[in-house]
Amino acid sequence: MAKLTDTHAHIHMPPLSDDIEGVVSRAFNNGVERILTVGVNPEDSKEALKTALMFPNVYAAAGIHPEDWESFSEEACGELFRTASHKKVIAVGEIGLDFYRDYAPAPVQEKVFRRMLEMSRELKKPVIIHNREASSRCLAVLEEELGRGRSAGGIFHCFSGGDDIIKWALDNNFYISYAGQLTYKSAGTIRETLKLVPADRMFVETDSPYLAPVPLRGKTNEPANVAYTAAFAAKELGVETEELALRLEKNFDDLFGRML
Ligand code: NI
Repeated sequence: MAKLTDTHAHIHMPPLSDDIEGVVSRAFNNGVERILTVGVNPEDSKEALKTALMFPNVYAAAGIHPEDWESFSEEACGELFRTASHKKVIAVGEIGLDFYRDYAPAPVQEKVFRRMLEMSRELKKPVIIHNREASSRCLAVLEEELGRGRSAGGIFHCFSGGDDIIKWALDNNFYISYAGQLTYKSAGTIRETLKLVPADRMFVETDSPYLAPVPLRGKTNEPANVAYTAAFAAKELGVETEELALRLEKNFDDLFGRML
């Protein structure tokens, strides 16, 4: 069985947190060796860390998602910084811009995003980027905040396309992570990007409890299911799942190795 890492899940949130032992043991029994559980606001990031401390191979990320912009304050950032400083918190995320939904005006989202990128620079930890219909702004902000060799790298999570994102990622030590949508019939444009992303810059994730891959689409997702997305990507690329999985595991070690 191929060994994999679920590079983006929310196992510290309900409903997954209600059966946390089951979720983690099903993942490990399915070859998922490591799970990165990702916070979306300061309180939630603390929960992510708590869950990471329960299991040796579960790690946390701490950040403020654009949807959670209202949780942003300097006091909250101080609290988030303390959480993010913990050695089991290996990334700042998820953070970014989302112009698809009516979360907050663009300048407000951008202010939070910039502050989070500043935190990642202070901590020298990679970032996990949520970008939805905001690619050009997102890249402009990343360029300003992390450009000029100051970046610890990062991941564009739940990648939904954009050649500009891929190009920037390859130039800047960033990775592209595919979630379960890759397996959806309607996701032809996402699948087409597979051939543009070298295997040494690729990840797979569940974004669970959301986005269950085919054949489980519509069900509650969990990290064990990342194997479906990996197998699907391997088939599309014409390689063995085992071979792709080995490469993706090395990518995780390359990006986060010094913290694992
Ligand atoms: Ni997420």
